[in-house]
Amino acid sequence: MNLIEKDLKYIWHPCSQMKDYEELKPIVIDRGKGVYLYDKDGKSYLDIVSSWWCNLLGHCNPKINEGMKQQLDQLEHVIFANFTHEPAIKLCEELAGILPEGLCKFNFSDNGSAAVECALKMAFQYQYQTGHPKKTRFMCLSEGYHGETIGALSVGSMDLYAKIYQPMLMDTIRIEAPDCYRCPFGKCRDDCDGECICHAEKAFEEFADETCAMIVEPLLQGSAGMRMYPPVYLKKLRRLCDRYQVLLIADEIATGFGRTGRMFAFDYAGVSPDIMCVSKGLTGGYIPMAITITTDQIYDAFYADYSEGKAFMHSHTYSGNPLGCSAGLAVQKILREDHILEQAATRAIYLNKKIEEAFLDHPNVGEIRHLGLINAIELTPDKKTKSDFPSQLRMGYQIYKEALKKGLILRPLGNVLYFNPPLIINEEEIDKAVNMCRESVREVLKV
Ligand SMILES: Cc1ncc(COP(=O)(O)O)c(C=O)c1O
Repeated sequence: MNLIEKDLKYIWHPCSQMKDYEELKPIVIDRGKGVYLYDKDGKSYLDIVSSWWCNLLGHCNPKINEGMKQQLDQLEHVIFANFTHEPAIKLCEELAGILPEGLCKFNFSDNGSAAVECALKMAFQYQYQTGHPKKTRFMCLSEGYHGETIGALSVGSMDLYAKIYQPMLMDTIRIEAPDCYRCPFGKCRDDCDGECICHAEKAFEEFADETCAMIVEPLLQGSAGMRMYPPVYLKKLRRLCDRYQVLLIADEIATGFGRTGRMFAFDYAGVSPDIMCVSKGLTGGYIPMAITITTDQIYDAFYADYSEGKAFMHSHTYSGNPLGCSAGLAVQKILREDHILEQAATRAIYLNKKIEEAFLDHPNVGEIRHLGLINAIELTPDKKTKSDFPSQLRMGYQIYKEALKKGLILRPLGNVLYFNPPLIINEEEIDKAVNMCRESVREVLKV
């Protein structure tokens, strides 16, 4: 039995209809270097999606490897209740210096969904312990995505992932999200003043008394198809949260650490959330780790004599794992010393220019939008009506398969093709990726 046959015998792959694998077999990756992955036969794949948006500084980055190897020989793991270690302490100290103002207390977990669960429980318990026991529900945006566990799915709004589990989920308050591509207020991105906040205003008026927190993916609803909205919306949301004593949770799992062009998406808005979740790029995409970060004000509401029962009794076995922290420390050092965000800003302009040259005039491209190095190409059968290709056509999937043949890992979200590369991508790699993407679209759409 070869490796692929064995894989199909044993492994249930994530987010996949396994029957699809009859036709498109799993690709056995042997090694990685920079933006490339290589299969067993030596064929290269340009990882334009950063392996599910987590690889920040290239595969097998020598500096991260070195940091982790040193840590491996010293300490692999230790219980994090009542014990601590230097890599965790140093990492928190470093992050405190780059986070939006006020975020200074760090609670570790091991994946994005877990960080969201932690944030929800923290917000709930905070409200309870500060005299608001009726504030028990959560607000979230339509089209939002926050992970796959039950709490995270409850505050998500994507039927594709959540619909079947509806009877298991919490009763959350959904607010219509900004939809800048099809703006119902007839605004374009440049003259928007966040008019659609009116939906949130209405929901806060009606439900704030029973709401402990509102969770958002700031500026970028990634899984919904790289939907982007302006910072003014976050500013207005911050004001609403303050007025109604609702905590604001920022899910920066996909947007954190330079993905959007700034260190955090919230930096564009010039306001701080009460709780922030980070993961993915935190370790450069090396090893699962996440942190839920909050303010002194929230932390203090849990700080009391043990007998008062106010402690946050939340834990994960791998909280604060030293290997994860060593990767995180290496990532911070590289971001700082190699001026990665400055370089990525130049590349972001180049990538967007190349994508516009290749796709702007295409009859099936409804919109090209970008934020930092993230670029999304919205496909439509009709630019005027902005309608979607019927989902049965699996247009994105057809293009994905074509791109794979050419050596590009493009994982479209429905009708949206997107680029979300490691921040270290160079111009030559950008040219190659855009060409392969353009050719793949031509093969499938015949234009
Ligand atoms: C915004 C956002 N939140 C949460 C998650 C969940 O993270 P994980 O897959 O590590 O559980 C993701 C994953 O893509 C995400 O994009």
